[in-house]
Amino acid sequence: MERTRPAEETNEYYSEKMKDLQYKRKSARRRQIARRKRRFYVLLSLVMVTFLGIGYAVSHAVGNIETAEVTSSGKSSGQVQATPYVEPSSDYERVINRSYPIEPGYIAGTGELRTIANSGGKQMETNAAINLEKMIAGLNDAGMSIIVQSTYRTDADQEYLYNRQIGRQGGDELKAATISAVPLTSEHQAGLAVDLSVDGNLDESFAETAQGQWLLEHCVEYGYIHRYTEDKMEITGIIWEPWHFRYVGSPEVAKAITDSGKCMEEYYGKFLDPEDIEPYLPYLK
Ligand code: DAL
Ligand code: ZN
Repeated sequence: MERTRPAEETNEYYSEKMKDLQYKRKSARRRQIARRKRRFYVLLSLVMVTFLGIGYAVSHAVGNIETAEVTSSGKSSGQVQATPYVEPSSDYERVINRSYPIEPGYIAGTGELRTIANSGGKQMETNAAINLEKMIAGLNDAGMSIIVQSTYRTDADQEYLYNRQIGRQGGDELKAATISAVPLTSEHQAGLAVDLSVDGNLDESFAETAQGQWLLEHCVEYGYIHRYTEDKMEITGIIWEPWHFRYVGSPEVAKAITDSGKCMEEYYGKFLDPEDIEPYLPYLK
């Protein structure tokens, strides 16, 4: 008699069992793949967030270094600067040159002139005059005297001086413009410049005098700078003038410009246009 095999021993039974097993294995495998995918994406996100964070931190640090460099070479305002140039805080810092002329009748700062003590009635812009008086008092206290040679000039004064200079240079307008500023491009017209002398002459020997040396060292304390230095002639477009001092509004500004080692064109980014400097270069060597 044929023994009836229990259901679990039949082929159908094994076949079903196998299918069920395979299904379960496949499901387990799918779940495992899904888990791995989830882990991968979480890890990827973490890596991206970390890199973005590092990138931001580095760019922020570099930005701070660049800003610090700019502000340390300029004023200690702590402001973020978009360019390597300093933004003037007042028109005492206005760059005046052949490419950046002033308007006729312009006087900087207060817009008012003040007569300078013991100068024979010469005038400068109010604060430039007050600080020139203090600078001369400082020089006198150091046992020296000085002649206030040239201060504020009207537009007509500058026109006269420039034309006289052309005559002295045998009609060479380019050479003349490196010595006497073209009308409306002189700092004297804005009331901000003074020429100082020991003997009534304005020449390079002034730099060797005790007065010239004292002024070069101390002028910043009174808000003045030595504007036309020997090493910047090819940028300012003006010959070396150790006697010409320019008021810039405060000792802090004067010191910052001087300490930067730059002339005003470089410091404020107000360079002469090529046509205002290139033809003049042969006279500025
Ligand atoms: N001598 C200087 C450049 C002036 O005329 O202002
Ligand atoms: Zn001058």
